[in-house]
Amino acid sequence: MELSGALSSYAQEELTPSIGTKFAGVQLTEILKDAAQLRDLAITVSRRGVVFFNNQELTVADHKSIAQALGSAVGKPQDSHLHRHVLLNGSGVTLQDIAEAVDDEVSVVSSTDRIRVMRNREHTKSLIPGSHGWHSDTFWEKIPSDYTVLHMLDVPEIGGDTLWASGYAVYEKLSPQWQRMLDGTTALCATKDYDHLRQLMRYDFGGGGRGSPENSGTKLEAIQPVIRTNPVTGWKSVFAAAHAIEHGYIIELTPYENNVVKEYLLKLITHNADLQVRHRWTKNDVAIWDNRSVFHRVNFDFEGYRRAHRVVSIGEKPFFSPNSLSRSDGLARRRAYELEQTTKNATHTEQKSDDSSKRKVETNVIQLPVQRARL
Ligand SMILES: [Fe+2]
Repeated sequence: MELSGALSSYAQEELTPSIGTKFAGVQLTEILKDAAQLRDLAITVSRRGVVFFNNQELTVADHKSIAQALGSAVGKPQDSHLHRHVLLNGSGVTLQDIAEAVDDEVSVVSSTDRIRVMRNREHTKSLIPGSHGWHSDTFWEKIPSDYTVLHMLDVPEIGGDTLWASGYAVYEKLSPQWQRMLDGTTALCATKDYDHLRQLMRYDFGGGGRGSPENSGTKLEAIQPVIRTNPVTGWKSVFAAAHAIEHGYIIELTPYENNVVKEYLLKLITHNADLQVRHRWTKNDVAIWDNRSVFHRVNFDFEGYRRAHRVVSIGEKPFFSPNSLSRSDGLARRRAYELEQTTKNATHTEQKSDDSSKRKVETNVIQLPVQRARL
């Protein structure tokens, strides 16, 4: 999918070559009013993996609308909606921060809950290795998330940063031989994160669909493609890796091969700073990321209160298309198309112009923004 240019009047800064873009001087509530801007935002998130906005005034209703509208703008299935988290929901019987139970489709991500309920499990900063917990949201659902929209409301004085890693770039760290070996493979993805709490609280996860009719039941596992095609960019990304297969395995490989491959994919995510971006939060920041193509984790290195509202949109059933490209090949193809279009335009203009105006027009053609290339 191609950008229309509807967001080009807003300041944007690419934070690294491979992942992360920061917007400035715009409220998401403005973008929400404009269909073309929403669509361009979804495409930008999918291309850049994660985008950031500062100082956002966002009601819960706006927050939910943005999350649902982003996926819809780029064609998610009509029966995909917002995710109702199995525990972090508004029912009041689960983990929500005592101070608030906002909405069934809004998770309150709160350090209070982590300390209160998950004591000695995750909030023990010195015991958590940096390689632990890299995940995409709802990887364990049959129909997992496309976009997450996180609104940070309370931040500790220091610490609690979030890191994201590009799945597109992880794929490109593999040799062509390993890429071919993993293309088309599938993995059992499962989470054990909520099992002990479910049993402890005798809770059935609320039954019913969780953003899609296919997302139900108490068994939080799904078979997902190891290499996933992002339908918005057409690019290949490593998807079923890291935390998603910590308790699962790649189906087509032997147990011994799994040991090697699982460990290697995790290393590619955690050992390559060039495919990561890190955000230090300030109050009212919003981050939006594409769960199809990025992994993320939080640093549990803080002492103070940290609280955010998170809305997770459910997207399409994950798939792998053999015809999809790596990010670099996709970008190279787009550049070649743009160059071809520019040359065609210049030639056409030359034919129509007299000699005296030709040089001036050619200069203008080269400066034209080229937004409509195809992959
Ligand atoms: Fe997450």
